[in-house]
Amino acid sequence: NSGGGDAAKRRAGEAAADEVEDGMVVGLGTGSTAAHAIRAIGERGLDVAGVATSYQSRQLAIDAGIPLTTLEEASVDLAIDGADQVADGNLVKGGGAAHAREKYVDASADRFVVVADPSKEVDALDYPVPVEVLPDARPVVAKRVRALGGGPELRAAERKDGPVVTDNGNLVLDCAFGEIDDPEEVAASLSELPGVVEHGLFVGLADAVYVGTEDGVRVTDA
Ligand code: A5P
Repeated sequence: NSGGGDAAKRRAGEAAADEVEDGMVVGLGTGSTAAHAIRAIGERGLDVAGVATSYQSRQLAIDAGIPLTTLEEASVDLAIDGADQVADGNLVKGGGAAHAREKYVDASADRFVVVADPSKEVDALDYPVPVEVLPDARPVVAKRVRALGGGPELRAAERKDGPVVTDNGNLVLDCAFGEIDDPEEVAASLSELPGVVEHGLFVGLADAVYVGTEDGVRVTDA
């Protein structure tokens, strides 16, 4: 990792955890940077409840001693989540295939802060956009993504013969669009496709971005 590695991720995660106060319901993001925030929240022994965005964050919350709740029982005050790329406060997420739950949890929060290391910061988003699709719809969605100028590739599992299956039982098409000049337009086009459950472009959702650096944390309002 070119951006300060795990220490930078830890600084970002711990600094964002400083925003958490007693009584809050916290959206618990997915990935290695959000994991630092989850651990920090647990270590502080605050009286909070968490809404998990994935199998992974649920397990981390249990390990950290954070009681879990659901969107049926509570609404999220603060969500803390990682990103695969950040440009002007817009994000690509879903490198861990968790973007569908992440998006509705993060978007529902009163405040959503992103935690990242400097390697995630770019001038223009160009990370292939993860698109979660209903399994039967994969061929038709792939065709429509090609028509939009994207290059869809079925995400393969690393230690299984076959595709990645999401926490929701669906497949992921990683869709390369090159540099995305207009994230809002691409996001809207992908959202419209029948068979798409959710895509990983998070446009205008973040309130702030915490970037861990070599020796501190940079916080930018988004
Ligand atoms: C999960 O699907 C992603 O959206 C993660 O939030 C993203 O991949 C960030 O992960 P790291 O913090 O491990 O880079």
